[in-house]
Amino acid sequence: MHNKLKKIRIAIFISGRGSNMESLIKSSENKKFPALVSVIISNNELANGVQLAKNYNVPVKIFDKKKFNKSQFEVFCHKVLLNYKIEMICLAGFMQILSKNFIGKWRNRIINIHPSYLPDNKGLNAQKQALEKKASFTGCTVHFVNEEIDAGEIILQEKIKIIHRDNLQTLSNRILEKEHVIYPKALK
Ligand code: GAR
Repeated sequence: MHNKLKKIRIAIFISGRGSNMESLIKSSENKKFPALVSVIISNNELANGVQLAKNYNVPVKIFDKKKFNKSQFEVFCHKVLLNYKIEMICLAGFMQILSKNFIGKWRNRIINIHPSYLPDNKGLNAQKQALEKKASFTGCTVHFVNEEIDAGEIILQEKIKIIHRDNLQTLSNRILEKEHVIYPKALK
């Protein structure tokens, strides 16, 4: 007899397009993948990812940043996370810095994907930072979230060469393609 795999229950936090969210949902539909996407939380009611999640029949909770301040957002989130018995949080294009208090409650249970080869190019517009520096490579990184921005322990990262005719769009697209591969791998 085979033991049925017990999937860990994850929540994904999004603010926008949701393509990394989609890659995690798709991976988690495989019965051998050890995680189940149980709920999506968005701080932006207009995020594309909101509709996308609904298409996959994953519950979505929206606490819009225009209506709730950070501490309200985090209180509501915490309740949702407990209700859904969430064990891990994946940030996927979630463009809001979590408070120390929230990170403390979920210590070692929050991971993030960042579009650079960390520790290079932390923070916003990582792809643009790499181009402006005329770096020869950049990449993407999945890491644990701690109180310092983009500085938690690295789980998995991948390098991407920058070629001379790259612009922001072409480079971001190439990075994103790799993101969709490494995020599910890292979560696993
Ligand atoms: C991704 O490139 C992700 O790495 C980046 O935002 C994009 C979200 O796209 N995240 C950050 O820059 C976090 N600092 P998606 O909504 O299609 O997944």
